[in-house]
Parts: sequence; structure tokens; C-alpha cells
Amino acid sequence: MMKIFVEKDYEAMSKKAAEIFIEAIKEKPNIILGLATGSTPIGLYKELIRAHKEEGLDFSKVTTFNLDEYIGLSPDHPSSYEYFMREELFNHINIPRENIHIPDGLAENIEEYCKKYEEMIDKAGGIDIQLLGVGENGHIAFNEPDESLSLGTTIVELTENTIEVNSRFFQSVEEVPRTAISMGIGSILKAKKIVLLANGKRKAPVIKKLLSTDRVSTKFPVSFLLLHPDVTVIVDEEAYNG
Ligand code: F6R
Repeated sequence: MMKIFVEKDYEAMSKKAAEIFIEAIKEKPNIILGLATGSTPIGLYKELIRAHKEEGLDFSKVTTFNLDEYIGLSPDHPSSYEYFMREELFNHINIPRENIHIPDGLAENIEEYCKKYEEMIDKAGGIDIQLLGVGENGHIAFNEPDESLSLGTTIVELTENTIEVNSRFFQSVEEVPRTAISMGIGSILKAKKIVLLANGKRKAPVIKKLLSTDRVSTKFPVSFLLLHPDVTVIVDEEAYNG
């Protein structure tokens, strides 16, 4: 079942999402969170940092697993997702380093590493809340529209569209890696609860399509969320109305 909240603007969307996460962390201090990068969750992360600094929200027992990472970028590369997560969240809260998991874009044997990442999630007890953004082409994590989609964590080739869109985080489009490690559609659907955020006019077509379809398609990966029993979609008015 999909619950939808339409909030006035980006800030209101971020606050609504933060309420869900803050409540969940208070209720279960050793919660397992699935986290995303990109522009969409930055406001939510700011709210979580605020809750930590002003209200003492405790992250000392929280565990996190990130959705994806570019292959070939070191954690210290300013465009890596690990760097992003440190800057936007982890450096500002009291989460122990060993509780943080981000796919290792420099792993020697990536295929083996993908299996290991999946096992680490299962061993931790599975993800309680998975945070998601959505691509303009309907991708979730880096599961791009295709003939088939991976169930588990895997190596993915980014589409030209995604490379173009993500080049804003790099010096030039040539610098964007062509491949990434990404949790699969099955890894995402195993989460107990899913929170999908979208803001801005550019996401309006994908949100409209998601909320109006009753079909799942590998050509529209976000549609697989329709199979999950507990999905909360939080959008701003621009993403809802276009
Ligand atoms: C990021 C991720 C991606 C983004 C999506 C939207 O970890 O998995 O699927 O959520 O590309 O990106 P933004 O938020 O930048 O519009």
C-alpha cells in the first residue's frame, strides 16, 4: 500500500520525512536504516543533524547501509557517495564509523563484494526503513530501466541520461564513472518500510506515472514499489502538480 503526502515545498517535504525517521530512531535506537545520496535527501539530513544537535537525538546504536557507490572512486574523492554522506550527515552526528556501510567502489573483486554487501544487510537483521529518491527515468538506487533488473546488490552500467544528470556533482561529464555498485530491486523490497522522496517540477512526470499506474515494469523500476506493503511517498507540490 502506498501512502502519499503532498507538502508545500522542499523544506516541508524534508521535515515530514524527518518526523518519520526521528520517531523511528526514538522507538528503536538500534534501527537499521537504508540511506540515499543525491540532492533530494539533503534537507532531511539537515533536519536529522538539527535533531541530534538541538534535541540530542542519539545515533550511537544506529546502523546504516547506503544504496550505491560509483566504481573506481575512492572514499576521499569529493564526488564519491561516501564523501557526500560524510559531509551531509555522518560527520555531524554521533554514529560510530563501524556502523556505517557504503558499497566499496574500490573493492578488488566487485562481484564477490556485492554478494558480501547483501549478506551484511541480512546479517544485521535487514533494513527497517529504506530511504529512496527517484531518477527522472524512474530509476531507484542505480537500477536503470532495462529488460530485466537485478534482485540483489550488483554492478550496474549507468545510462547516458543518469551520467548527464549526475555530472552536476563532477567537474565535467567525462569524469562521471560509467559503472556503479547498487543495491538491487530485491534488496530494496526486503526493507520493512520504504520512504520515497521527490521534489521539483523535473520529477513531476515520474511521480504522475507512479501514482497512476497499476502495472509493474522493469522499464520503470520505481513501479516495483507497488509490490511492497508499506511505502510512504512524500513529495512537494511541484513534483505532484508539475
Ligand atoms: C542515490 C540514488 C539515486 C537518486 C536519484 C535521484 O543514492 O540511489 O537513485 O536517488 O538519482 O537523485 P536526486 O535526488 O539528485 O534527484
